[in-house]
Amino acid sequence: MSTQSTVELPHWETTPPDPEAAIREIKAAIRARIEASGRTVEEIFAVVEARVGEKVEEIEAAKARGESVWPVIDYADIEAGTVPEETVELVHRRGCAVIRGHFEREQALAWDKDIVDYVERNEFFENYRGPGDDFFGSVGSRPEIYPIYWSRAQMEARQSDRMARVQSFLNHRWTYASDGTQWFDPDRDSLYPDRIRRRPPGASSGGLGSHVDVGTLDLWMTSAYQRAFRHLFDGTVEQYDPWDASYRTSGPQYPSTTMCSVFRTFQGWTALSDMAHDQGVLFTVPIPEAMAYMMLRPLLPDVAEDDMCGVSVGQVFPVNERWHPLLVRAFAGIPDVRAGDSVWWHADVIHGVAPVESQEGWGNVMYIPAAPWCPRNADYAPRVYEAFRNGDSPSDFPEEHYERSWPDRFQPDELNETGRRGFGAQNA
Ligand SMILES: [Fe+2]
Repeated sequence: MSTQSTVELPHWETTPPDPEAAIREIKAAIRARIEASGRTVEEIFAVVEARVGEKVEEIEAAKARGESVWPVIDYADIEAGTVPEETVELVHRRGCAVIRGHFEREQALAWDKDIVDYVERNEFFENYRGPGDDFFGSVGSRPEIYPIYWSRAQMEARQSDRMARVQSFLNHRWTYASDGTQWFDPDRDSLYPDRIRRRPPGASSGGLGSHVDVGTLDLWMTSAYQRAFRHLFDGTVEQYDPWDASYRTSGPQYPSTTMCSVFRTFQGWTALSDMAHDQGVLFTVPIPEAMAYMMLRPLLPDVAEDDMCGVSVGQVFPVNERWHPLLVRAFAGIPDVRAGDSVWWHADVIHGVAPVESQEGWGNVMYIPAAPWCPRNADYAPRVYEAFRNGDSPSDFPEEHYERSWPDRFQPDELNETGRRGFGAQNA
């Protein structure tokens, strides 16, 4: 018997004017709803802690044996449809993967050089005005994150058959149809143009603290997310499935400089240089269910009534030793990657970037996620197509617009069918 209708949750479809008051209100309502099922919040949280804790121990043991925790897939197996069943299962378990040889190494290195030529021809460094947001803020005149979206290299990769095949493979890991609704189309990506990172040899970086990008207070407060996370809030936590796309593909996200307007099954990047595992690279907590821990932890009585374990609108959702000591034990860095490999992690998976002192070699990536076609992404598509036509920064990103006057940016008549469909063309 469903208890969902016994306690209605208040919801805010836009950022609540008084976030602390809204936190107090929603925490009380979620607790009441859980208790209406006959279970306590502590009981529910203990179930999640046990489920996640088992995986943390498995990962600690793998790390102690010196094994790479990340599943590794050969692109050739994706193309041939011969990815071993146990590897597919491991992707499901860990929520992340490295795709070896996603692109030919020579192709990736050529793209990297193309990007350098493109920004130099257009005098990007001479005109660079400093970081446009407070997320990837860096010291020094040359950026590591280039707010560049429309180079030939990026667009060729985004609309390539190889990218479409990998995105489709990853999208199919999710349950995308249920209750008579198809939540997204796993075989059609919506382009989500993002930036480039080029970190030079000798660079030192403090890294990027662990976080999730999928939302902030909206995760508890919008009606769409309340439905998506319904099993966490109504006493049926055993049924929570991080791979269920239900109600995740049409709701809003509260605006901020770190928001992502689209639904992504996986975040990802493609390596444009070789990178060793100890040179300030990406790490994750490779446990998709950890989201349940993060969502329920603020409901325990040791957290102030107006606090969601530090989550606020306008900054990414932080994950730390203070509130998530179990989770941080499972940090797992990527293995060595080569130019042309790609790296992927489930939208809810905790991730960060390790610090590095005097980096060896380059650390260059193109951010290209898997963002399948769905109502939420269809809403963003016309805006992003307009940005493409004008050479603007897409609306999710700071308004820097460096490429507006660059004559050699990728042009609409160079789009192939995948590119046109990704921007929303109906009959491509
Ligand atoms: Fe992130």
